[in-house]
Amino acid sequence: MPDMDPVRNPYAPGAGQRPPELAGRDDELSAFDVVLERIAHGRPERSLVLTGLRGVGKTVLLNQLRSAAIGRGWGTGKIEARPDQSLRRPVSSALHMALRELRHPDQESMDAVLGVLKAFALRQTADAKVRDRWQPGIDVPATSGRADSGDMEIDLVELLSDAAGLAADVGKGVALFIDEMQDVQGDDVSAICAACHELSQQGAPLIVVGAGLPHLPAVLSASKSYSERLFRYLRIDRLDRPAADRALLAPAEREEVTFEPEALDALYAAADGYPYFVQAYGKVTWDVAAASPITAADVAMAAPVAEAELAVGFFGSRYDRATPAEREYMHAMAELGGPAGAAVSTSEVAVSLGRRPASLSPARDSLIKKGLVFSAERGQIAFTVPHFGRYLLSHPAE
Ligand SMILES: Nc1ncnc2c1ncn2[C@@H]1O[C@H](COP(=O)(O)OP(=O)(O)O)[C@@H](O)[C@H]1O
Ligand SMILES: [Mg+2]
Repeated sequence: MPDMDPVRNPYAPGAGQRPPELAGRDDELSAFDVVLERIAHGRPERSLVLTGLRGVGKTVLLNQLRSAAIGRGWGTGKIEARPDQSLRRPVSSALHMALRELRHPDQESMDAVLGVLKAFALRQTADAKVRDRWQPGIDVPATSGRADSGDMEIDLVELLSDAAGLAADVGKGVALFIDEMQDVQGDDVSAICAACHELSQQGAPLIVVGAGLPHLPAVLSASKSYSERLFRYLRIDRLDRPAADRALLAPAEREEVTFEPEALDALYAAADGYPYFVQAYGKVTWDVAAASPITAADVAMAAPVAEAELAVGFFGSRYDRATPAEREYMHAMAELGGPAGAAVSTSEVAVSLGRRPASLSPARDSLIKKGLVFSAERGQIAFTVPHFGRYLLSHPAE
């Protein structure tokens, strides 16, 4: 019966933290393998977009898909979109990385595309500051006349086709990963859709793989109506019971530690299958337990500690970003949606606050922009963070 060593605690709560065991995502991983294989063979294939609430594991899955692409010799790059930021620079850096990974044997072809990439990168967007001295770190001179028109759509199509051409030469592909894709600016979203559309018609070996909040499909289709045919949406959700158990057991067993079945019951009840919570409760439970097997009593002792940590780190850090008016809005949502955090209608929120709906639009829009709530369908609003309603109900506004 080994003693528990906190140094060997395998669990990893944290945004984008690689879990000790990526449980329950085999279907997504094998779907992606098929996509890579088909695209490398010039067959038509839709790209993947992962959607889901915060903490379900979109970022770590995206990273895993990227590793799969790298494993096949593809050139890859990744971007994390931010509101109010043009994609030009992040796309430049990501593609620079992708081109290097491709290891094209012919330096001349490589330099030609790098020159286009540099021109693309240096092309100022209208909103860029004049005195900006940013340099993309590409060692070849910028060419001119390609990917430097200033029109993102034209420039992306040209740049991505050149990059895909290099990949095709070596029988591979290029994959561009975009996390928090719902935050990509309107013009850039439509440029990306248009570029994907154009390149897939050419049979070029390039894909864009996105991840974002549940309303991302709506963002994309509002931008280009054909986006539904362009992307295959994979809803990333809670882990089912066997997967949640595996997420806990597999890493523990590598340390010769196990759980009593009742401990796993209690952990599933607490974490509700949400990967972030699985890691958070698992981590504290490990530290509280004196010996293996971990018991339900250990979980009972750990749960309030884990909850307190989540209240600060996971929920509180987000709540703190909201203004008083936005907090009031969210408390009203929580009252209406109940502990399950159901979506509520914006007009009901207005009624419960005794306000005209229009007067609440600024608070709601700003909450959407901050990524705290999303609108899955017109007139409806829901939290992006699982259990956020429950948290708010147990932490009433002062
Ligand atoms: N399939 C999984 N199995 C176990 N833990 C996971 C899994 N996916 C994610 N996690 C854990 O969940 C947490 C949140 O993951 P993250 O990718 O940041 O979520 P998201 O990007 O959806 O907000 C991390 O601590 C990560 O280790
Ligand atoms: Mg993420």
